[in-house]
Amino acid sequence: MGEDQNTVAVVGGTGDQGFGLALRWAKAGRHVLIGSRVRSRAEDAAARVKSAVGVSAQVEGMENVEAVAHAPLVILSVPYEAQIATLKTLREVWRPGQILVDLTVPLETSVGGSPSRLLGVWAGSAAEQAAQHVPDSVAVVGAFHNVSAHSLQEIEHSVECDVIVCSDNADARGKLRPWVEAIPGCQYVDGGKLENARIVESLTALLIGMNRRYKVPGAGIRVTGLQP
Ligand SMILES: NC(=O)c1ccc[n+]([C@@H]2O[C@H](COP(=O)([O-])OP(=O)(O)OC[C@H]3O[C@@H](n4cnc5c(N)ncnc54)[C@H](OP(=O)(O)O)[C@@H]3O)[C@@H](O)[C@H]2O)c1
Repeated sequence: MGEDQNTVAVVGGTGDQGFGLALRWAKAGRHVLIGSRVRSRAEDAAARVKSAVGVSAQVEGMENVEAVAHAPLVILSVPYEAQIATLKTLREVWRPGQILVDLTVPLETSVGGSPSRLLGVWAGSAAEQAAQHVPDSVAVVGAFHNVSAHSLQEIEHSVECDVIVCSDNADARGKLRPWVEAIPGCQYVDGGKLENARIVESLTALLIGMNRRYKVPGAGIRVTGLQP
């Protein structure tokens, strides 16, 4: 298994959002390691990516721990209620210089409530909470919160949503740009510090409510006026 800057691990890549990202990046020629708690589920998801994108897609399924051990860039794509527990399973695997991208939205559904309401998070945001559960040598980025799984999985269509990228590590923010731009229709937007993830995460709850009111599957966001 080759590891290089073209490789991404998607923890929880068997689920809607992670699978959508895996599809998009495999289609763009990236090397995608789909992670799961159960190897067979990951292998099944990898097979589904190949059947959608083509047999030459560079995608493999494996346990979360193995995927994280073999990629410089790691996406955490599990429900909020599973975020800390999942990060604890990865505690021994991290290496200095890796980047963790957290896209968790702390929706009230985690405690049986509404998908259009956000929970208060002691750390400030789910992304800041993630940062408390990885070594300081791993840069934590919040991104891809506002892109719907539905849009990602419609691989014949462009996504039509901007991706606001937040991190205290400016270098890590910059490294996300090519991954965002590999997804047709996504504009990379520098969102500044990780604490801004609380604003970005909350927009998703708003978008979910809009999906219901407008009877659409994947409302997104556009930031205008960024071209000098
Ligand atoms: N769906 C969207 O449109 C969307 C949009 C923006 C952001 N997000 C965020 O993206 C994240 C993933 O969303 P999703 O819709 O893909 O979620 P999901 O399908 O419910 O779950 C994703 C994966 O997480 C793992 N998982 C589920 N429950 C778990 C548990 N209790 N403990 C450990 N692992 C568990 C499962 O993988 P295995 O069973 O294979 O281990 C599952 O396939 C969430 O934080 C969500 O807020 C989602």
